[in-house]
Amino acid sequence: MDASAPTGRLSGHVAFVTGGGSGIGRAVCVRLARECASVAVVDVVADAAEATAALLREDGAAVIPITADVASRESVEAAVDEAWQRLGPIDILVNNAGIMGYRPFLRLTDADWDRTMAVNAKGVFLCSQAVARRLSKAHLPGTIINMSSIVSEVAIEFQAHYAASKGAVRMLTRAMALELAAHDITVNAVAPGVVETAMTADLLADPAVAEVTLPLIPLGRAAKPEEVAATVAFLASADARYLTGTSVTVDGGYLLR
Ligand SMILES: NC(=O)c1ccc[n+]([C@@H]2O[C@H](COP(=O)([O-])OP(=O)(O)OC[C@H]3O[C@@H](n4cnc5c(N)ncnc54)[C@H](O)[C@@H]3O)[C@@H](O)[C@H]2O)c1
Repeated sequence: MDASAPTGRLSGHVAFVTGGGSGIGRAVCVRLARECASVAVVDVVADAAEATAALLREDGAAVIPITADVASRESVEAAVDEAWQRLGPIDILVNNAGIMGYRPFLRLTDADWDRTMAVNAKGVFLCSQAVARRLSKAHLPGTIINMSSIVSEVAIEFQAHYAASKGAVRMLTRAMALELAAHDITVNAVAPGVVETAMTADLLADPAVAEVTLPLIPLGRAAKPEEVAATVAFLASADARYLTGTSVTVDGGYLLR
């Protein structure tokens, strides 16, 4: 993990990061903690949440691991309650948990569609509503950052279900930004291109795929999770207080052509 660039700009803030047990989510937890936020590391895999929390504790951060499934209202409500009680009001929500699969459209199953939409789209709805309801009731400002993808803008073969879920995240970001502005809650998205995580490890390890994919990226390489986390940290900071409803593309130029 990148040990550079820590500042105290998130001191006094409480972050709830879903999918915090791996990849981009773990890098976001590390970055926000190094900027002095308290962090709830939320993941459906208990060991993964605990492993990220252990990393943060080494740095002396205030952190709790929470096991939760973002696709379940009951699980989300319990997780948000636990974080709120133990760390204080959650004013930074990072909806990062996501799953991705490849399947030709003609062979896509109901299960592929339902689970992808449940985690990637409904999860954003459930977590955002749970946090925003509590913030508005307490008359507190906050910010929500949703992990979208370049597939909310361009079609890639065999990813219809994933693309649909990320398109939903993109529009949910705008719709929530519009309604939550009155409550002083901003909502933005981050749209990564190809990032080196467990999600893409098999693809990038396959020379045939890497030979086709990497030349599509003008900067010539996949992103490190820390490069996405840096954008999340900016959006979580006071410097981004006037941004709402927007999407920041972090793709090394992938969408330029
Ligand atoms: N890796 C990429 O190239 C890339 C590109 C664009 C967008 N994204 C998005 O970034 C986000 C993070 O992806 P990543 O590459 O770090 O993947 P990852 O597989 O490394 O991490 C995803 C994490 O989410 C957790 N998770 C999955 N389902 C969950 C659920 N129902 N409830 C709670 N946690 C759950 C997993 O256990 C895992 O820890 C995802 O939303 C993904 O769609 C990734």
